[in-house]
This record gives sequence, C-alpha cells and structure tokens, in this order.
Amino acid sequence: MTIARTADLVQRAQELRTGIAALNVIQLEHAEAIVRAAECSGAPVILQVSENALLYHSGDPVPIAAACLALARRSSMPVALHLDHATSFSLCRSAIEAGFSSYMIDASSADYETNVQLTREAAQWGREQGAWTEAELGEVGGKGAHAPGARTDPAEAGRFVEETKVDGLAIAIGSSHAMATQSANLDLRLLESIRGEVNVPLVLHGTSGVPDDSVRDAISLGITKVNVSTQLNKAMSSAIRLELARDPDLIDPRRYLGPARDAIEGQARHLLGLINQVHVRETPDMKERKTQ
Ligand code: G3H
Ligand code: ZN
Repeated sequence: MTIARTADLVQRAQELRTGIAALNVIQLEHAEAIVRAAECSGAPVILQVSENALLYHSGDPVPIAAACLALARRSSMPVALHLDHATSFSLCRSAIEAGFSSYMIDASSADYETNVQLTREAAQWGREQGAWTEAELGEVGGKGAHAPGARTDPAEAGRFVEETKVDGLAIAIGSSHAMATQSANLDLRLLESIRGEVNVPLVLHGTSGVPDDSVRDAISLGITKVNVSTQLNKAMSSAIRLELARDPDLIDPRRYLGPARDAIEGQARHLLGLINQVHVRETPDMKERKTQ
C-alpha cells in the first residue's frame, strides 16, 4: 500500500464519525508494533514522532522517517507520518522534506498573538506544500505531572482558527501529558462548546490519562485525532523490566526488546479498537507470530 497522508486519514475519520489514533514512535520497535497492530485491527493509523523524540535521535528527522515510511509503504493498512509538538518552524520544514505529511506547530505556551502569528505562518506554508497543520490553544498540561488546570476558551478557539486557517486544533479540556493512570476528568461540556465554535478537526492530547469511556465520549462529541504515547511506553517498559528481572545475566537486547515490542503491539491494538471503534480480530499471521 502507498503511504497515507494525515489529511486523508483525518478526513476519513470525520466522514465515518469516528476517531483516528495518532500513536507516538520513539524507537523502531514502536513503529513496527504500531503498524502490526494496525494490520491486525484492520484500522488506519498515524505514526507520530515528537520534536523531543527527534532531538533524542540527534535532531535529524531523516533516519526515523525513512524507517517509518518503509513500514508504512509495506503495510496492508493506511499509515501516515506526523511531526508532533514542534516548537520550531524549521523542524516542520525538515520533517516535510523527510517525508512527513503533517506537523503540529506548538506555540501554545506563547501569548495568544504570538501563537496566532506562528501558526498562521506555518499553516500557510503547509498549504503550499500540501501538508496538514495542527496547532494548540490552551496548553495541555505539562510533562510528568498531573496538571489539568488549563482550558481552551471556545470563543477564542473559533477566532484562532479563523485567524490562522489552521487545519486541526489541539484543545485543553482536562487531559494532561504523561499521566501513568487513567484518572483525568474530561470537561465534555467544554468540548461541546468548542465544537460549536470550531469547524476544523479537534485533537485530544494526553490521552494516556483519559479513561476509555471518556475517550469514547470525546470522540462522539467531536474529537477526531486522538494522541497516545505514555500508555505504549508503560507497556514497553514493564515488559523490559520483567525480562531483565527474570534473567539478571541477560545481554542480548532482542531478548527484552522483542517482548517489549509485543507489549506495545498489544496496547496499540486495544487503542485502535477503542479509537476506531472496530472489532479487533486476530489474523492467522498474528497467531503464527505468537507461537514462534
Ligand atoms: O502528543 C502526544 C500526546 O499528547 C501523548 O500524550 O503521553 O499523555 O498519551 P500521552
Ligand atoms: Zn501532546
């Protein structure tokens, strides 16, 4: 299958009145596991790589993009590639050159006028390139801590989208990044109000901390793109911990990264079932891999 474009996957999800999962990739194992999960679930998926993850890989989007794009090209399901939480416009440009079809320009920590200016510039450039641009208004709570205080103002969100002509908007409705438990309280009334003011697809960040039922509710009330990272890393790290504890002499990384990749795949399959609302079926290929 050819590599999908984020714009098309988001549009398709809107037409089907469902969500599209955007799952974060840090290592090759993440990308392999997520693409396998998409194939097993019969669901499209967006692989997303954050600015922080790119910085971890020397700040160069080319190697990780090449790996993700190769997996996407070979996948039997549509797979797109998105740059997540970019604070620098030049990184957005390098990502598009490297084959990403979309990016999030994140100026949410700046004041409103600066956010508008940076987002408008990025969105206009994106349109010229045929890329899909996401921005954020309201700053979803910070890394590592449960900081659910920030909220997006509905009227401001409507004005922001009009002024920037951005393609998708991340909103703050009570989720917070990097939560280890699903204990966030989403403000679904606020979501409805924002939906009433904004006519572009809405994006939920920090979904790892949101209970599954609330994810379903949020999609039914107008969230389209659903970003998840920490849940995958939790599954990955638990599996690695278990394998290393089981054998303190273990040296070959494949012996712990293999189970870690399977754990990511399991979590990704759960998320794809939830977000795309498709029944996750076990394919013969999947069964075969388990018994190997
Ligand atoms: O942009 C990525 C997401 O917002 C991931 O958040 O790690 O809390 O799931 P999470
Ligand atoms: Zn995020």
